[in-house]
Amino acid sequence: MSSAVFSREEVAATLRPREQATWLPRRAYVDEAVYKEEMRAIFEKEWMAIFHHTLLPNVGDYKTQQVAGRPLLFVRDQDKKIRCYVNICRHRGMAIASGSGNCKGFVCPYHTWGYDLNGVVIHTPQINGAWKDGHVRLTEVKTEIFLGFVFINYDMDAASVASKLPTVAADLKAWGDADLEVMFEKVYTHQWNWKIMADNSIEAYHVMGLHASSAEDDIPTDLAYVTVPDDGQTHAVLHQPFAENRKFKPSGSMDSITKIPNLPAWMDKELRFYDMWPCSIIWARDDMLVGYFIVPGDTVDEIEVLNTIAIPRGIKSHPDYPAYRDEWIKFQDLIQQEDMGPCARVQRSYARSNEWKPGPYSPTEATCWFFHRWYLDKLGNTSSS
Ligand code: FES
Ligand SMILES: [Fe+2]
Repeated sequence: MSSAVFSREEVAATLRPREQATWLPRRAYVDEAVYKEEMRAIFEKEWMAIFHHTLLPNVGDYKTQQVAGRPLLFVRDQDKKIRCYVNICRHRGMAIASGSGNCKGFVCPYHTWGYDLNGVVIHTPQINGAWKDGHVRLTEVKTEIFLGFVFINYDMDAASVASKLPTVAADLKAWGDADLEVMFEKVYTHQWNWKIMADNSIEAYHVMGLHASSAEDDIPTDLAYVTVPDDGQTHAVLHQPFAENRKFKPSGSMDSITKIPNLPAWMDKELRFYDMWPCSIIWARDDMLVGYFIVPGDTVDEIEVLNTIAIPRGIKSHPDYPAYRDEWIKFQDLIQQEDMGPCARVQRSYARSNEWKPGPYSPTEATCWFFHRWYLDKLGNTSSS
């Protein structure tokens, strides 16, 4: 018997072949009960990318981040390894760190218990014995660095990211082999469901509308297509071929020094977006790797988007670098701004309009269709259920 969160009738149309299928039911985007089930069935089991590892370059560098309702603390430990802990004191539950910075260890502000960078309790005022003999630690969350990005998984037994995404690793080998560092990370906070952001971020259908003046001339909607190397079980790839005479080339005078070595031939022909379920997107250019990571919030209509660009190490000293960086920040921000209004409207529509009936998928929304099928499968709704 299925423990599915949706009835068979609710999602039957989404599970049809793409040409006859219709979108997820609105309840998937607005119902707290659905979100609670997503926490259990998806976010407690799947890998999520959070940031580029060079954001914490030195021993003792740390940052805090809320992910799917849990407070997390990332730190580069004594062995230069990035670790992730649940940011909750082992004494009585206070957060031991906030914000970001560099430190030699952590002191809980409540009763001053001390922790070293490896998460071990080393100081427990007035309390002796086992509590500070090196066996008590902060709860650790599984981490893995894949293509330079820090991924986390609440399931300590999860198979590795690299083993789940071999075709992504092969396609992006040049970027994985390159020595990259963060150019910038920008954090956006939004009041809409994580899937509204994911849907919007993995389809090219809206480029001709929302990005008509910023991107459509260079990567027209009509040229875009979707491939699915592994039957949609881990990710899909959105290909956006370049128009002839594309205009946007912010590298300008930086062109000769920013190229990543050993690029594959497809790089000159198209942009590729690697959409890794549930909510991590990476795309590649000849001079950078871009992370677009959707981080689920505490409630069904709350997210953060962590947008990061990593570039070849060493180019920050070039005299033209500040202008190059500023142009990229401006461009990324423009694209985000163009997407935000419609995402907010869609959330409002789903929340208020009981009578709304889901529409069809265009060919350039096939990424969403694969994503939605994967999603329903995780929630126990399969075509045979
Ligand atoms: S809650 Fe942290 S020391 Fe008491
Ligand atoms: Fe967009």
